Amino acid sequence: MTRPPLDATEAQFRLAMGRFASGVTVVTTVVDGAEHAMTASSVCSVSVEPLLFLVCIERDARFHDAVVGAGVLALNILSADQRAVSEWLATRGRPVHGQLERVPHVPGPATGAPLLAGVQASIEGRIDAVHAAGDHSIIVAEALAVVLDPRPPEPLLHYRSGYRALASLSALGPPPPRG
Ligand SMILES: Cc1cc2nc3c(=O)[nH]c(=O)nc-3n(C[C@H](O)[C@H](O)[C@H](O)COP(=O)(O)O)c2cc1C
Repeated sequence: MTRPPLDATEAQFRLAMGRFASGVTVVTTVVDGAEHAMTASSVCSVSVEPLLFLVCIERDARFHDAVVGAGVLALNILSADQRAVSEWLATRGRPVHGQLERVPHVPGPATGAPLLAGVQASIEGRIDAVHAAGDHSIIVAEALAVVLDPRPPEPLLHYRSGYRALASLSALGPPPPRG
């Protein structure tokens, strides 16, 4: 069987994946009392029985070894007015110590990992598995505790390399009749 040419480039791949609109999270952890945090959008729900989610973390990121060592994390799902938080916690080389000084947060009751104020929801988790995947690790975690804003603000979105907000929260309506 002839295979199609393997000519996908990094640039094409980035452009294509950038068309997959996503939310934006800040993942946090705590190691020996020291808080770590970074912006992440490669996040996905995995399983309901048990409750599993995943986040893909670049192996070169400082957060990587911190979270793998800690074994616990919290996923904070950002709101539309938290773009500056996202930008700050995605800034390479920012000081790790005190990086959450200006970001209001509390330690999560289940893990101690920081839960950010003003987010739509937070999920605390315990790492279940770490799978090597190219220059990233796929970190699978079991959800231990959830905090939900009962009246969530609009979400912060990322699409085609830019931050976005929903123009409207209206649903698309029922699907058209089949056939
Ligand atoms: C919108 C957005 C989403 C990101 N998603 C991820 C991600 O899912 N995984 C990842 O490893 N890095 C992601 N990054 C990059 C990290 O946030 C960035 O490399 C950060 O500086 C790493 O922090 P550290 O060096 O303290 O570990 C994202 C950045 C932005 C702006």
